[in-house]
Amino acid sequence: MLERDALIARLPKCELHIHIEGSLEPELMFELAARNGVQLPWPDVETLRRAYAFNSLQDFLDVYYVGMSVLVTERDFFDLAFAYLKRARADNVAHVEMFFDPQGHTVRGVSFATVVNGLHAACTKAREELGVGASLIMCFLRHLEEADAHATLDEALRHRDKIIGVGLDSSERGHPPEKFARVFRRAGDAGLNLFAHAGEEGPADYVWQALDVLGVKRVDHGNRALDDDVLVARLARERVPLTVCPLSNLRLKVVDDMRRHPLKRMMDKDLKVTVNSDDPAYFGGYINDNFRAVSSALDLSETEIVALARNSFSAAMMDEDERTTALARFEAVVRGG
Ligand code: ADE
Ligand code: ZN
Repeated sequence: MLERDALIARLPKCELHIHIEGSLEPELMFELAARNGVQLPWPDVETLRRAYAFNSLQDFLDVYYVGMSVLVTERDFFDLAFAYLKRARADNVAHVEMFFDPQGHTVRGVSFATVVNGLHAACTKAREELGVGASLIMCFLRHLEEADAHATLDEALRHRDKIIGVGLDSSERGHPPEKFARVFRRAGDAGLNLFAHAGEEGPADYVWQALDVLGVKRVDHGNRALDDDVLVARLARERVPLTVCPLSNLRLKVVDDMRRHPLKRMMDKDLKVTVNSDDPAYFGGYINDNFRAVSSALDLSETEIVALARNSFSAAMMDEDERTTALARFEAVVRGG
């Protein structure tokens, strides 16, 4: 194994941008389809994998929403999340903040409680049995109406203890953060942490809105922030973390070549960058695959790789005792060579 890859494997890290429905591997998708009597539009795993040739975020989302239709029971959500958490453990992930898309399920008649209880049970078991800290961030689908998001927040507040925050995902272009200003204010008033996808395909202005209109603590993706020097200076000064997803960016044609991925430029501009997998089952890799792909393409130094992993601990929503302990363990691994 290359020295760089061995370092990546060894480093503890947090995953802060993973859509749990995007960790649904084709084999599990077909297993759950059979379990639940759901008819998929692909005859088998091979045909499904061939459908993973995306030219845009929307191309991917069209497959993603169909794929998640096999998730029906609490046990399905548990199995999905626990399979991902075991895989994350193998990549030395110490802490996960996982997105989920309740509206992708409630629209099919699956109750909010079914979704959140299954996922939450997997997070609890991961903490106890795998030693991986795991928590849930509920995302609003931005292509749907604001009223839908309000109704989803009403449901979520009945499960307030199982969710650490809210996010904003799905089709970005034409759905600016400001569309969700009021529902984010309600979520913030309820003490939930606030996150949003911004600047993945949408303009730098959406990153401004995420910060100033929604009041987010972390920006998911943020690639297009680099188009605006004033915004970059703001993100750097305020140490706003960006959850960057290199293989996702490549597969969704946000970047045309990994050698031109903006991650190193972001780091050189003093932005707090983290590396994440987004939808690992669809984009060809889990978190360490993302670290390896971007580190190799951009020829990152060991110091830069360590900095990326260290950033994930300062960007995580951990309580301060937990962060101190996790960072001490991290620095011990770094010193261990
Ligand atoms: N939902 C799942 N993955 C997503 C992504 N990369 N961007 C926006 N919404 C998503
Ligand atoms: Zn995402």
